[in-house]
Amino acid sequence: MLTFIIFLLLALIQNMETFIKYLDDPIFRAVTKAAGEMNLMACVVGGFVRDCLLGRDAKNDIDIAVVGSGIDFAHAVAARLSPPPEVKFFKNFGTAMIQYKDVKVEFVGARKESYRCDSRKPLVEDGSLEDDQKRRDFTINAMAFDLRMSELGELIDPFNGMQDLRDKVIRTPLNPDITFSDDPLRMMRAIRFASQLDFIIEDGCYAAIARNAGRIGIVSMERVVDELNLIIMSSKPSRGFRMLDETGLLQLIFPVLLDLKGVETIEGKGHKDNFYHTLAVLDNVSNTSSNLWLRWSALLHDIAKPATKKFIPGSGWTFHAHEFKGSKMVSKIFRELKLPLNEKMKFVEKMVLLHLRPIVLAEDTVSDSAVRRLLFEAGDDVDDLMLLCEADITSKNQIKVKNFLENFEIVRRKLVEIEEKDRLRNWQPPITGDLIMTTFGIPPSRLVGEIKEIITEAILEGSIPNEFDAAFQLMLDEGKKHGLVPVGT
Ligand code: CTP
Repeated sequence: MLTFIIFLLLALIQNMETFIKYLDDPIFRAVTKAAGEMNLMACVVGGFVRDCLLGRDAKNDIDIAVVGSGIDFAHAVAARLSPPPEVKFFKNFGTAMIQYKDVKVEFVGARKESYRCDSRKPLVEDGSLEDDQKRRDFTINAMAFDLRMSELGELIDPFNGMQDLRDKVIRTPLNPDITFSDDPLRMMRAIRFASQLDFIIEDGCYAAIARNAGRIGIVSMERVVDELNLIIMSSKPSRGFRMLDETGLLQLIFPVLLDLKGVETIEGKGHKDNFYHTLAVLDNVSNTSSNLWLRWSALLHDIAKPATKKFIPGSGWTFHAHEFKGSKMVSKIFRELKLPLNEKMKFVEKMVLLHLRPIVLAEDTVSDSAVRRLLFEAGDDVDDLMLLCEADITSKNQIKVKNFLENFEIVRRKLVEIEEKDRLRNWQPPITGDLIMTTFGIPPSRLVGEIKEIITEAILEGSIPNEFDAAFQLMLDEGKKHGLVPVGT
């Protein structure tokens, strides 16, 4: 017990030290000075305090609360910085913002807020610091460090956020029904913080999310997906997805993912539950890559399994061509979720389309031509594709897993070998359509495309080397078959 108390005290002292090192920061010094001169209560509040106490690198995003006008105070602080930054303010909300070097500082006058049921925009009245703190989302985000000279660095924690940080608990300062109904995005935030920080959500709070889930409908999809992306970027995203599922939020924001859930059994044969398989693949990818879009690829790699599922009597379940159909589904899902419809989406489409290819290679004896084709189609994304494929092995059969991984090693070695030999990554076939047309003096036609295709195939198959002269000769031979002769001969 004594050791535990000493440990806690040490942790607390260390955490205070984490903040003390910031006190010398020009921004905090300017806040302290302005608060003294204006005789106002001012403090740093929210995520900065939480991250400081967690010993996480506090980010370049500081929230200052002041008992008075946030806008006037922002001007006073800006005037004490050198060079003085521009103050952007939002009169309706009573908030202001300055950007000082790479730090964004937001100022808010402490307020009582109440929200209308049809909107996330609050009605605001002046209030005490505690009024402001209790209107915040979670106890761990409602703590403040005093910035007045007389109380410098003192923790103001009326809702025991520090205890919740130690216990790793997400809890709302007020009745959770009020907190979530005030701003339904907080339901996503609760699950996001639990997933990011590996915390649990207190039971009453969790039940309130399930009760209020329907209110997520008033939040814009962009905001919801920002939180979803943070869940996906946590170290074990399946935790967040299980919570989204249990509380009913997933059904509302991303129902197509839930179509993967469930096991059907015919003639005593069942298939795997593709929802939990997908979550396992997502966790596996998260262990090896911090690429958000590769993680999205993991989430969507089997998305067309429900639509392609068939039971073949005597043989079992098939999901024929789910990779093709799945890749076609990506753009609709991205549009609905307001994800970017750019090269990130194209990357996900490509990963979904190709996700079985290395597995097929690993099952068969690995031929040079199959590896060459994979390099040609995956281009620079081949390494990510390999990570996705390895993550896709979620079998409980250790012997099977070992065989797959060993074969993947062979595929990887071959990829390096053939890449060195043939340089096929981002490769363009050496004979262009233009060259075919000028050589034979013919206009654009289907035949030009066919000759080009035959040359590409021959190089990928390895029947001719990946060299200009060999490709040119093949072009001449193919032209001859169609009665074409080079111009000038
Ligand atoms: N906040 C809130 N309700 C929200 C969003 C934010 O009460 N829907 C409060 C919390 O006190 C939060 C602070 O505003 O700590 C700042 O919000 P934000 O910058 O969005 O989040 P952080 O908590 O700083 O965390 P992160 O940067 O990881 O999102």
